[in-house]
Order: sequence, then C-alpha cells, then structure tokens
Amino acid sequence: MSDTWTPDTWQQFEAKQQPAWPDEAALKEATEEIASFPPLIFAGEARDLTARLGDVAEGNAFLLQAGDCAESFDGFNAVAIREKLRIILQMAVILTYSAGMPVVKIGRIAGQFAKPRSNPTETQDGAELPSFLGHMVNDVEFSETDRTPNPKRLVRAYNQSSSTLNLLRAFSQGGFADLNRVQSWNQEFVANSPEGQRYSDLAEEISRALRFMQTAGITSDHSEVRETEFFTSHEALILQYEEALTRKDSLTDEWYDCSAHMVWIGERTRQLDGAHVEFMRGIKNPIGCKVGPTAAPNDVIQLCEKLNPENTPGRLTLITRMGADKVEDQLPNIVQKVTDSGAKVVWACDPMHGNTFSEAGVKTRHFEHVVAEVASFFKVHRQLGTVPGGIHVELTGEDVTECLGGSMEIESDDLSKRYESVCDPRLNANQSLDLAFRVAELLG
Ligand code: PEP
Ligand code: CO
Repeated sequence: MSDTWTPDTWQQFEAKQQPAWPDEAALKEATEEIASFPPLIFAGEARDLTARLGDVAEGNAFLLQAGDCAESFDGFNAVAIREKLRIILQMAVILTYSAGMPVVKIGRIAGQFAKPRSNPTETQDGAELPSFLGHMVNDVEFSETDRTPNPKRLVRAYNQSSSTLNLLRAFSQGGFADLNRVQSWNQEFVANSPEGQRYSDLAEEISRALRFMQTAGITSDHSEVRETEFFTSHEALILQYEEALTRKDSLTDEWYDCSAHMVWIGERTRQLDGAHVEFMRGIKNPIGCKVGPTAAPNDVIQLCEKLNPENTPGRLTLITRMGADKVEDQLPNIVQKVTDSGAKVVWACDPMHGNTFSEAGVKTRHFEHVVAEVASFFKVHRQLGTVPGGIHVELTGEDVTECLGGSMEIESDDLSKRYESVCDPRLNANQSLDLAFRVAELLG
C-alpha cells in the first residue's frame, strides 16, 4: 500500500459488497452533485468525538452507540426520529448514573442506509434479483425496478440524513433532552413495565440524585441539564458516497469524511488489503471496525496498525460481535493480543449481529442472548483487566415485535404482529430500556 492517500485511492483496491451500478454516468452525476453539497458535520465535531472516545478507551466514559439496522426512506418522519432519540437518551441516563461517568451517545442514524448482505442475489419463485442493499442503493420490494441499484438514491440519502441531523441537533440542544424530562420517561417505563419492580430501586435512586441537584441549584436553567451532546454514525459501505463527502479541513489541512461524526467498517469489508480499509485509514474521523468470531488476532493487530498508526486513543473502536455462545472462547485471545501489541482501542460490544437466527419465517434475535453476550463481554474484559468500553445495539423507539423475549415476553407467534425492520430485527423501546437496566447492573 502506498503512503500517499487521497479520498479516491480506495478505487485502486478491491471493494467487497458493492452494488453493480448499471449506469456509470448516472452514478458520476449523483456523486458530483453530493460533492457540491455542504458537509453534514464539521471536522471540529469529529475531533471532539475522538476526544470523548479517548476517555472511553481509558475507562473514564462509556459508549452507547445505537439506532436502526437500516434507516428507511419510507418510515421517515419527525416522530420516528424523536422516539429513537428519546430511547437512547433514556438509556444514557440509566447508564450514566450506574457507571458514574459520562455516556458518549452516538446514533446509528442520519446516514445508515447501506447494508452488506450474505448473498449478492436473492431468488424467489425461480427469479433471481440483486439483494436489497439498503435504501441508499435499491428498494426492498422484489421486482426488477426496485432491486436495480439507482444512484439517485444516494442523493436522497444525503437529503434525508441532512434533515434528520437538523432535527437531532434541535432536539438535543432545544430542551427535549432535559435530564429531568428524560428521567420522568424512565419512571413511566418502570411504572408500566411488568419487570418494573426489578428496576424501581435504581430508577428511584436516579430521581433522588436529580432532586438533590435541583435543590443544590443545578436546574434546567443550566445547559448541562437541559442540553446534551449527540453524535451520528453509520457503516461506510458505499465508498463513492463517502468519498463525495470527504473534505479537507481548512484548519488542519486534514481530510474528514463529513457524512457523519463516526463511520465504521463492517465485518464483511474489513480486508487488510481492501478498499474500505484503504479509505478509512486516510480520514481523520473516529472510526470503528467490526470484529467477528472468525477474526484472526494478528489481522486485528494489523488493522489497528493500519487504521491508527499514531495509536491515538479514541481514533479506533473495535466493535466485537461474537455471538453469546462464542464470546468467552473467541474474545479473550483477541483482546489479550491486541493489548499486548500496545494498540490503544475502545472495546465495544455489539450483542446483535452474532445472535441472529430465523424463526417463523423472519430474522430474529432473543433478548436473553443479547444480554448474555454483553455479560460475557464484561466478564472477559474484567478478567483481562481491560476496559469494557460500551455497547453497540440495533433498536427503535417504536413498539415493534422483531426480537423475542424481554420484559414483555415477545414470543414466536408475536413476531408477525409488528415486524417493520427493512433489515435486521431491532430491540423495541421496552426491550431497549430493559437492556439499559441490565447493563446498569453489570456496570454498578
Ligand atoms: C450492522 O451493523 O448492521 C452489520 C451488518 O454488522 P456486521 O458488519 O457486524 O455484520
Ligand atoms: Co444489522
């Protein structure tokens, strides 16, 4: 790999999981249009996030990265965005209190429109069409028109990301994120959930802490109570899109991918000699890389060297996604070897992607497997003396029935009631809060 890097050097490398765009000229037109649009985030914000994640790497903050598996062009409205943010804020309050440290909140939102798939094509009734690759590329419906990659979708993804981010900025700065308000929603969950009693002590402790703060004069007049910091992220899969939004920061002369504060490399595109690693090594944003159960520790070490040659804490988050039954076998060796190599990383646990299975004709996950993977993740890091930095989950603020179990005890027969994900099954609002309280117990 040559040392010269520009936003387009990835094109000299093999890129896995790319759509077969049928019309090169239309693709060029779309990416040129996006390249002319304003950045979605500023370099300074990305630098702030690297610093926050540096705190996570050192065990002085906890990372909560959460949102849709795939955002949709169809379910695009203010309520859906608000409800997703609301759940993440509620989880963050629970975790902040239990961890006794700041929680760095990053949404899988405002750009999470592209999906890697296990098969490039899908066959139904003898007909073979390209797989659904996310709304940035094609549509879910199984027809030739819907499944043909359409570059106009890249422009629409930019536009939807832009309005989503606008609303997120307004919500997080405009009073919606007020701690007292968020905690009152948590109290509602505790009062109304079947397992509420289990969490009522912790919820009451948090309320007491907030009452104390108010008495001490730290009220909603203070921006620390009223406002919050919220960052965006997505998988950087479609490299033409990411390239088009990569801009040189005039302050530092460094390149930033201004499509999101953080971007990550998926489990299927983290080849050391691949295009995604080439692209990501050159941008200065904080970045993530998924690490699955088949990852060789040496490859992970080399990824750290390539993606974070200056070994900056907070620059690289390794998001491990082993599967509940594999974590205790696979994770220790990787964590140990990476630690021995001296690499400074944030360790985050994605308890979703190693725990997917099919049931009643749909993809699902069981809440208890999700909790079990997080518990094992904590156990492994505690045994090794390393930092369990955070969690990375797929959730929605709505009352969907996509994952089994949880305090509402969603069963196989319930899955069809409200299964709305365009890709992987997400925790619903109650399951997400349930998870936050479980993680709180592990942190406490
Ligand atoms: C995802 O995060 O939606 C995803 C596809 O994960 P992974 O790359 O870990 O399979
Ligand atoms: Co997913």
